[in-house]
Amino acid sequence: EIHEQPESIRNSLRGRLLLKEGSAKLGGLEPVMDKILQAKRIIITACGTSWHAALVGKFMLEQLARIPVEVDYASEFRYRNPIVRPDDVVFVVSQSGETADSLAALREAKSKGATVLGIVNVVGSTIARETAAGVYIHAGPEIGVASTKAFTSQISVLSLIALLLARHRGMSEEQGKLLAADLHSLPDKVQRVLQTTDQIKYIVEEFKHVHNFLYLGRGSNFPTALEGALKLKEISYIHAEGYPAAEMKHGPIALIDENMPVIFIVPKDAIYEKVLSNVQEVKARKGRIIAVANEDDTEIARLAEFVIRVPRTYSYFGPVVNSIPLQLIAYYMAVARGCNVDQPRNLAKSVTVE
Ligand code: M6R
Repeated sequence: EIHEQPESIRNSLRGRLLLKEGSAKLGGLEPVMDKILQAKRIIITACGTSWHAALVGKFMLEQLARIPVEVDYASEFRYRNPIVRPDDVVFVVSQSGETADSLAALREAKSKGATVLGIVNVVGSTIARETAAGVYIHAGPEIGVASTKAFTSQISVLSLIALLLARHRGMSEEQGKLLAADLHSLPDKVQRVLQTTDQIKYIVEEFKHVHNFLYLGRGSNFPTALEGALKLKEISYIHAEGYPAAEMKHGPIALIDENMPVIFIVPKDAIYEKVLSNVQEVKARKGRIIAVANEDDTEIARLAEFVIRVPRTYSYFGPVVNSIPLQLIAYYMAVARGCNVDQPRNLAKSVTVE
């Protein structure tokens, strides 16, 4: 499923990305487009990996379409008596469309009069049926308990929604075209990242006996860090934490010593220099640095012990490309430790209980 991603992302974008117009066409949202455009804020609710995709969605919708977005764990949302108004638009993100907490959050929002929409993979699932409208991610069946291709397809669909809303809310056609072209290039970029497999196997050999990992990123790559850590926990049973890189100094920095591997997601974007200074802080404390960095980054090799090179992309869509090496690290780590990659202990593919 990790290797299916060039194709699954292509399927999520197919027929929806309008390269010439610099926009997107999402038939599933057309009946509710007025509601969406009138909404003063958007709420996105989800669990697990889908919640991480929702965090990336918040970043994109706020940056590109300038709409305030709140992201909530479905399990918290349902029990918080949340403030939801009839003019709110609520997206429920779910691969399976059957997650009990997400379904309960959907019903809670609906009972308060909001327009509730789905971003779902499984066609005809309960969440797809109970939402007023929505967009299927078309990732194809996902069998592995650890979600991989659904994550990148969820982000792809959220990118399309962000682009569409941005164009309705004043983004120029020229800017739209640049973003659309970048989105269109994602499957090929992911294909290129999949070629880092041999290097990742080498890195895994070096770290397969460690007990802890820290994942750090900023902006849209903070959720990438969370997702990388979740993948490692789920399938290799190594404790891992994802943090915003700048938060490290507020506590986790105490963990850094010569035994602590730290994975930095450090693309050459507007906050590159800031993340680089966080890398330096880890280096000064002898932490072992693995960096996911761009192909044209000439500085990072001085600081990191290992550099996994990925193509550049707009920071909004970066998590699609940057999460691939993290999925591969989790996969090969699990294999090296003799774990069942597809069916990890204590987990089910779809969590239909509270
Ligand atoms: O089917 P859903 O997207 O609603 O599932 C949500 C989570 O249970 C799911 O993403 C879970 O965290 C995965 N095991 C992550 O790999």
